[in-house]
Amino acid sequence: MDYALDRFVADIKEAIRATGKVPEPLIELQTPKPNIPADLAFPAFRAAKELDVPPPQLAQELVAMLRFAPDSLVGAVEAIGPFLNFHMNPERLGVAVLGEIARSADKYGHDAAGQGKTIVIDYSAPNVARRMHIGHIRSTIIGQTLVNIFRARGYRVIGDNHLGDWGRQFGSLLAAIHREGKPHAEGEVALEQLEAMYARYNNAIAEHPELNDEARAWSLRLEQGDAQARELWRWCVDLTLHANQPNYDRLGVAFDHAYGESFYEHMLPGVIQEALDSAVAYRDEDGSVVVDKMDKLPKFVLQRNDGGTLYMTRDVATILFRLKEFNPERIIYAVGAPQELHFRQLFALVRSMGYARDVELIHVPFGTIFDSHGNPFSTRKGNMLYLKQLLDDAVQRARDVIEQKNPDLPEAEKDQVAEAVGIGAVVYNDLYQDTRRNITLDWERMLATEGNSATYLQYSHARCCSILRKAQVDVEDWSPEIWQRFDQALVAQLQSLTHPSEQQLIKHLARLPEAVREATDRYAPFVIADWCYATAREFGVFFENCPVLKAKTPDLRTARLVLVAATAQGLRNGLALLGIKAPERM
Ligand code: ARG
Repeated sequence: MDYALDRFVADIKEAIRATGKVPEPLIELQTPKPNIPADLAFPAFRAAKELDVPPPQLAQELVAMLRFAPDSLVGAVEAIGPFLNFHMNPERLGVAVLGEIARSADKYGHDAAGQGKTIVIDYSAPNVARRMHIGHIRSTIIGQTLVNIFRARGYRVIGDNHLGDWGRQFGSLLAAIHREGKPHAEGEVALEQLEAMYARYNNAIAEHPELNDEARAWSLRLEQGDAQARELWRWCVDLTLHANQPNYDRLGVAFDHAYGESFYEHMLPGVIQEALDSAVAYRDEDGSVVVDKMDKLPKFVLQRNDGGTLYMTRDVATILFRLKEFNPERIIYAVGAPQELHFRQLFALVRSMGYARDVELIHVPFGTIFDSHGNPFSTRKGNMLYLKQLLDDAVQRARDVIEQKNPDLPEAEKDQVAEAVGIGAVVYNDLYQDTRRNITLDWERMLATEGNSATYLQYSHARCCSILRKAQVDVEDWSPEIWQRFDQALVAQLQSLTHPSEQQLIKHLARLPEAVREATDRYAPFVIADWCYATAREFGVFFENCPVLKAKTPDLRTARLVLVAATAQGLRNGLALLGIKAPERM
């Protein structure tokens, strides 16, 4: 889809092309430095060199020759030294951008670039019989945002929760449950009890080595399909899925599949055989199947000498399944940075086996979460951070902020807003900077009503809504009404939005589609977060300089109300892509 800025760029390129003076590949535009008051520039250096004329001369000649259609967004053009500087036509800018936002409403910023293409996104992937902790919090949040933004670009996105529901650890777990009995509690509490049981069992092994054999026996029974082992295992998986669901619901996380590692079990012998046949793997002296000297990566195991398989083996099978089942153009993994090597080995192996030749395999790594003192969370130190507790904590703190800011809000609404603000703060903390960076849980900053926080963005949105409410504009449904009466009168009104703060705000709104594209191109949700933050700031400046409800004329008031409604819509869309709710009152 072509948005206003796309047309602005296309018009300029076409006009330069039509002069016949600049060879097509040299028509490259750039964003001028911040101190240059122009929207786009064409540096004439390279073309001038080709034509053997001084760049300022070429710039002068071009200015005289450029022609634009009467309705083009391109306004003034000037030659400044070797540059051609282009300005947007201030009157047409508002009409074009606000019209676009009114027409696309909650789809504003989306496009169809990915139509007909499929992407698989592997995220969250907690382990069975454990509460979701820091290792999975970031994966869940970042992964869901990737799902949202790629869908916004028209891709068919398959979200898969690759549960850790298979492997050695189930031996000890089943043995422990068999000894102690199933916990009677439900949900997270039951998971906590299972964690404790598992730990007790493993700690006891030092003094009672026979427990090791017992665990191994259960592991074997499970792998061989013994009914009792399978039933107990199934019970653990269901319990975990059930316990995790409320966390997912609160975060707006939804998967298309949760196949889990166990799903690939039946494919594993075939995978190992294929790796051996293609001579990518070989059988070591001790009987294990290993891969060595592949792309200079460290050696790794595909099958233990007792026949057992590994996380890696299941990941290979998973890729082969996904290729066949979904025919994706990309598979994206939102998994912590400590697994970087794992994914390099995995991707190299799959390619050496002759698969995924024209499929992109991408690991989007992320950093660790630290507490406000910069200390890591750890189970051993007893300060592990669990997802549910994190969300509860955030919502509780958000409730206090709301209580201070708006004590008159009805209690039930306070609860709703606190949920949106608390969850928003946690989510935004994961997304506002490059995912690779570590993050800290600094509640003061996360819930600050000023500065780069979700709370500030939500307040800005609510402020827009409050203005609209006072003017009796329907916040949810403003756009069809505006779009339907996009007539001469409204156009004339919007043309009056030429105050510098109005222009700045409109130009920022015009950049959302670009931000969404860049965020997907770079797997970088922070680009959208940055866009939201810049928009909220521009709105603040506009709000200070340009009275809306008390505008000088009714026409100007109408035009500014449309701008406010469009800003609210833009912020809402940006926040929605990040998985953050935007309440109308706070
Ligand atoms: N369950 C794994 C863990 O907790 C994460 C799985 C990530 N996905 C994958 N396909 N390996 O570390």
